Amino acid sequence: MSTALLDVHLTGADADAALRADARAGLTADPKQLPPKWFYDARGSELFEKITELPEYYPTRTERALLLDSVGEIATASGAHTVVELGSGSSYKTRVLLDAFAKAGTLRRYVPQDVSESALRGAMDALEEEYPGLELHGVVGDFTRDLGRLPRGGRRMIAFLGGTIGNLLPDERAAFLAHVRSVLEPGEQLLLGTGLVIDPAVLVPAYDDAAGVTAEFNRNVLRVLNRELGADFDEEAFAHVALWDAENEWIEMRLRAERDMTVTVAELDLTVAFAAGEEMRTEVSAKFRPDGVRAMLVDAGFELTRWWSDRDGRFGLSLGTAL
Ligand code: AVJ
Repeated sequence: MSTALLDVHLTGADADAALRADARAGLTADPKQLPPKWFYDARGSELFEKITELPEYYPTRTERALLLDSVGEIATASGAHTVVELGSGSSYKTRVLLDAFAKAGTLRRYVPQDVSESALRGAMDALEEEYPGLELHGVVGDFTRDLGRLPRGGRRMIAFLGGTIGNLLPDERAAFLAHVRSVLEPGEQLLLGTGLVIDPAVLVPAYDDAAGVTAEFNRNVLRVLNRELGADFDEEAFAHVALWDAENEWIEMRLRAERDMTVTVAELDLTVAFAAGEEMRTEVSAKFRPDGVRAMLVDAGFELTRWWSDRDGRFGLSLGTAL
């Protein structure tokens, strides 16, 4: 990389400390839970890529088609000079966004943010070749923590796509959006992707596929704890559970202990008992109604400037403007 900038706000030691804190809190809670961010080591990221190609997993391809369809309007409505992408890992969406903003004639700078320094360096090297003249400023950081360190100025639009906001619990979600708002100047924008509430008969199989890839992805968090914290989870003794919580309007993934077990987490000096049938929550994936998305944006200090959704109402894209 020649002219590109890369700020590193997250080190391996930070991630390790966060994993320890999350594992200790979650494994000693009742009911037990683990945050979904720990699915994504190299194997977990590969499994997620495989999920996006499954026939049952409609969100990624739905959002992709919707983005392709609406990105010209998004760029024109936005007029941003700087596109910031949170969790920029997936390179396809980046190019769709950059091409449209370049075509609209406003694009000057791209700020990708990701937890993985290696993924970010790789992506930026490729983009430097593909978009000569585009200013690149990468930020290695955690989007729940490091938004305050994003470069300022240059009429920014922060893109947070993939429906990842649904993986935050309601209070985390509100705090995250308020944080995004607080780092923006009035007039700057947020492009938000949200999965929408649809028929559970379509939703549930998207999180419980016939090939069992999502089950492997779910159990991967146990492998992460085994490797990183010296735990001795027997992965095979946990069953994948995906259910629709109609009250909260979210998909919940859990791991169900298939027998009584005592698990040791060596690096935490912790012993954890699981009873046969006990379920540990590993992810919520909230789905939204259009009015709910608007309310959530308004509560955080945005105006909903534009809204796009696919014809089946499965996915929504919102352009919010900071008030
Ligand atoms: C990271 C939001 C795209 O919640 O749908 C896929 C992760 N979990 N299958 C989602 C996931 C189970 C996913 N996103």
